[in-house]
Amino acid sequence: MIILALDVYERDRALKIAEDVKDYISMVKVNWPLIIGSGLDIIRELKERTGLKIIADLKLADIPNTNRLIAKKVYEVGADYIIVHSFVGKDSVLAVKEIGEIIMVVEMSHPGALEFINPLTDKFIEMANEIKPFGVIAPGTRPERIKYIRERLNGEIKILTPGIGAQGGKALEAIKAGADYIIVGRAIYSSENPREAARRIYEEVKGWSSG
Ligand code: C5P
Repeated sequence: MIILALDVYERDRALKIAEDVKDYISMVKVNWPLIIGSGLDIIRELKERTGLKIIADLKLADIPNTNRLIAKKVYEVGADYIIVHSFVGKDSVLAVKEIGEIIMVVEMSHPGALEFINPLTDKFIEMANEIKPFGVIAPGTRPERIKYIRERLNGEIKILTPGIGAQGGKALEAIKAGADYIIVGRAIYSSENPREAARRIYEEVKGWSSG
């Protein structure tokens, strides 16, 4: 039920943190900082070293052909899921889903999200219900929005919520509101003892979710 957002640059540090905390997490999320810092093959290495599923948080937002070209290489190195933006439209999203499992962004948590992205959440939920991705990304900082999305989203589609810890979201509140997975980055990897930080969050939420 916990996904580690491994937003560090260095390969060795990333592998060490992932190995330290792997007993308490379900998946590892790799974002651009780690891919830029360590190269795409870090996905394969993390998967081999932890045995966990890997989410590539690329937030793809391009035309279908470019989305497809990028996604193909990322699934090839072992990514289990790729995060895609919904606002580019169904054809761009489907171009990725035709190759592998996807997670769609339906709402974001930063202030700028109120300008363009969040007013369209209902439409993104509608699209998700039609396309049936593995999951959607919703803001862990706003439990009332998680609840709103859960009520409208097909029950088989998972809700993954970043923003827990460093951005102020509370793990248990997000789970109680309907999140299947909580995504935690700095609250684990910037901690003096990442394993202990992960264990504490795990103990807090265990029993509440099946993830
Ligand atoms: O360090 P922290 O726990 O805030 O990390 C959150 C992670 O989730 C980062 O990788 C960030 O890019 C990602 N994310 C987010 N909000 C979204 C989508 C993704 O914080 N709406």
